[in-house]
Amino acid sequence: MTEPLVLVEKLDHVARIQLNRPHVLNALNMQLIRQLVEVLEECDQDEQIRVMIITGNEKAFAAGADIKEMVDASPVDLMVKRYLSDWLRIRQISKPLIAAVSGFALGGGCELAMCCDLIIASESARFGQPEINIGVMPGAGGTQRLTRAVGKVKAMEMILTGKSITAQEALDYGLVNRVVPVEDLDKEALALAQEIASKPPLAVRLAKQSILKALDLSLEDGLHFEQNNFCMLFATEDQREGMQAFVEKRKPTFRGR
Ligand code: HXC
Repeated sequence: MTEPLVLVEKLDHVARIQLNRPHVLNALNMQLIRQLVEVLEECDQDEQIRVMIITGNEKAFAAGADIKEMVDASPVDLMVKRYLSDWLRIRQISKPLIAAVSGFALGGGCELAMCCDLIIASESARFGQPEINIGVMPGAGGTQRLTRAVGKVKAMEMILTGKSITAQEALDYGLVNRVVPVEDLDKEALALAQEIASKPPLAVRLAKQSILKALDLSLEDGLHFEQNNFCMLFATEDQREGMQAFVEKRKPTFRGR
């Protein structure tokens, strides 16, 4: 039997999804991305799950798209195989995604981390977009998400030189939420996931959606979008529960309804 390319573990309300091609530093071939997206979509439908963590191993989160799979490709091959289309499906995931990154997060690996909503890096993490060194450029969101995350000049430097940055630099640039010792990565990612999972899921979902819109919309349109989502939450049981619990000075119990 062949090993699955992603391993899934569900712990209460959190799904931990581990990329599993360690012999090639988790190089992202099409099959792996397809399996990852299918698992994410399945978790997105699973009412028990509220937050997903994507992680790799100590040496690599992912060292990029699988170069051996692309080396002989023509543009037509990429179009016919819809090489990049699964990546767009990650953006449709409504629940929060946390990337827990140790080791290499390069090229598509860095792009995958940036598809997530929060990034926890271990001290060994290295982020970079080295595609320029192999004759191409980022293709799964690198020029767009990195620029939004770290600003134009730093994105230019990283993408045009292909040099990677340390976890501490990534923290200083605002690319990651925090840096933790390697041995604490899993624990810290899980603690953050559990904290978010304790919040009302529908409010979390609409807040995530609204924050992502902030990167796309004008302020005027973004404020309208936010107002609509705010009002919509007054249709949920969790709004009543949350506010009632405050008034009654007790802890709320959120059900995701
Ligand atoms: C395929 C890869 C790979 C990759 C590593 N491997 N990265 N295979 N695609 N992206 C394989 C190696 O071929 C090798 O297998 C094994 O993993 C271990 O790698 P080494 O190079 O021996 O390890 P090391 O010396 O520690 O160097 C680590 C490294 C280097 C610096 C990360 O592997 C490297 O530069 N990798 C490529 C990084 C890269 O260019 N990423 C961007 C890809 S393009 P064998 O069998 O030879 O031992 C991209 C486009 C995204 O991501 C846009 C579309 C989605």
